[in-house]
Amino acid sequence: MSLETSNKLLKKSINKLGSNPNLTVMDNDYLASQTELEQEVTFCVIGASGDLSRKKTLPALFSLYYHNVLPFKFHIVGFGRKRLSDETFREAAMENLSCRAGVVDKDECDRKMQQFLQRVHYVSGHYDSEEDFKKLHEFCCELEEEEDASRMFYLAVPPSVFAFALKNIRLQATSENGWTRVIIEKPFGRDSESYEELRETISKYFDEDQVYRIDHYVGKEVVQNITTLRFGNYVFEALWNREHIRRIDIVFKEDFGTEGRSGYFDSFGIIRDIMQNHLLQVLAYLTMERPNSFKADDISAEKTKLIKSIRQLKAQDFVTGQYEGYRSEEGVPEDSTTPTFAACVLHIDNNRWKDVPVLMVAGKGLNERLAEIRILFRKGLTEAFLQKGNSMGNQIVIRIQPNESISLHVLSKVPGLSTELRETCLDLTYKEKFEHESKDIADAYERLILDAIHGEKSLFIYDEQLEASWKLFTPVLKELESEKSHPPLIYKFGDSIPSQVESLLWKHEAECGNCIEAEPALKDFHSSEFRNNL
Ligand code: BG6
Repeated sequence: MSLETSNKLLKKSINKLGSNPNLTVMDNDYLASQTELEQEVTFCVIGASGDLSRKKTLPALFSLYYHNVLPFKFHIVGFGRKRLSDETFREAAMENLSCRAGVVDKDECDRKMQQFLQRVHYVSGHYDSEEDFKKLHEFCCELEEEEDASRMFYLAVPPSVFAFALKNIRLQATSENGWTRVIIEKPFGRDSESYEELRETISKYFDEDQVYRIDHYVGKEVVQNITTLRFGNYVFEALWNREHIRRIDIVFKEDFGTEGRSGYFDSFGIIRDIMQNHLLQVLAYLTMERPNSFKADDISAEKTKLIKSIRQLKAQDFVTGQYEGYRSEEGVPEDSTTPTFAACVLHIDNNRWKDVPVLMVAGKGLNERLAEIRILFRKGLTEAFLQKGNSMGNQIVIRIQPNESISLHVLSKVPGLSTELRETCLDLTYKEKFEHESKDIADAYERLILDAIHGEKSLFIYDEQLEASWKLFTPVLKELESEKSHPPLIYKFGDSIPSQVESLLWKHEAECGNCIEAEPALKDFHSSEFRNNL
């Protein structure tokens, strides 16, 4: 099969996957574009021997290579402080490369891996040395065949060296006749002030259109599908507002701790690590207004507007916790009050969402690994049918991971002569409904790196979104951290969500009047016209 045919097939199968039709059809046209594939690109990973590069960046690049979606002339150059030969770097990289479960031909996988590794090179150097970046530039020039070869720089380094690296790339290593882009990843500062500093540094050396800021949750398959679900299905879009939805839950749980990253984690904590970025992004996709178009600028404008309409957070809107044993981990001070768990209730002060509480939960060291959204609909009608007060009512559950799925919980009559009713669900489990494609779901990094190579920015985080999200979180972080006056409660490693979260939620629901609702729905149910139409 020619590369061109295989790209067309891949495009077709991605379109069939059913992610946002607007985004997919419009933005992925590059997958079948010969011109795009003929553009020569050198991909430099700065901080190449670190964890991010080994575990995420290089495996994602290999997978893209395996699927024939990288440009034909594509080189990868790792740059890092360790002195390594190409061979040693390749061997280390290989340990984390694999083909997905959907790939059946193991020989083909091995063959492609060897071909891929031949394109991987290594240059050692210091991030603050202009001279070493000049060496990197010269090395790239040697590899590149075309005068207009472009360069992508992926910063897999700690934020403390961002400034040096950006400056030296700008001064010494940019492409001479092609484009130059940089991909950076969180942490984007730890509050509004430090974000502002980072922003100034970046803008000193690069224009906004050269900068690609990753939030890898945005690249997850199910998160990409939120836009399709909302705007591609009349049935959902019509119900997507305060008239019909009484609450939204966004839950992130991990059944492990800081996994050797306690140094970073202890100075950031779970609110900055997960809520201010990953969960806020998910919330923005879930609740933003329909953008004017599905182009990057319009999507970003709607997401920013949404973040700006979230009511200022206060410490009283939070429950924080820390798992037992966290303080004995290496690198964690024995009096650390850094939360490893946080729950908060947010309110979006606009017409669509007024009085609909949003519960956000994020925790490490809990009982399971799960990222899930629950959209809870008003309850009146279901309650009346069940004749009891404990039904959850209709819900849409969007499971981001593991085992991606979207399900709608409904009330159904159980088949048979009895009149028994049961809550059950209409189920779109990816493994079953997309049996073939779900074996080959791309990792978030693949989607994002591929988009960045092709200049597609709709899944990247714009500066304006970060500014708004830090404005939202900085005051409450300061409040929670001031004089350690809000110590986290201690929970057992492996616990489920602490019960205090329920009280927090009840308080907010009661304030919104959302527990005692659904009068109109009940009235409808009793009207004979409504019943005859059932
Ligand atoms: C990272 C956080 O951004 O996301 C980690 O820094 C967290 O603490 C990780 O474990 C979760 O990502 P995923 O894709 O494994 O859910």
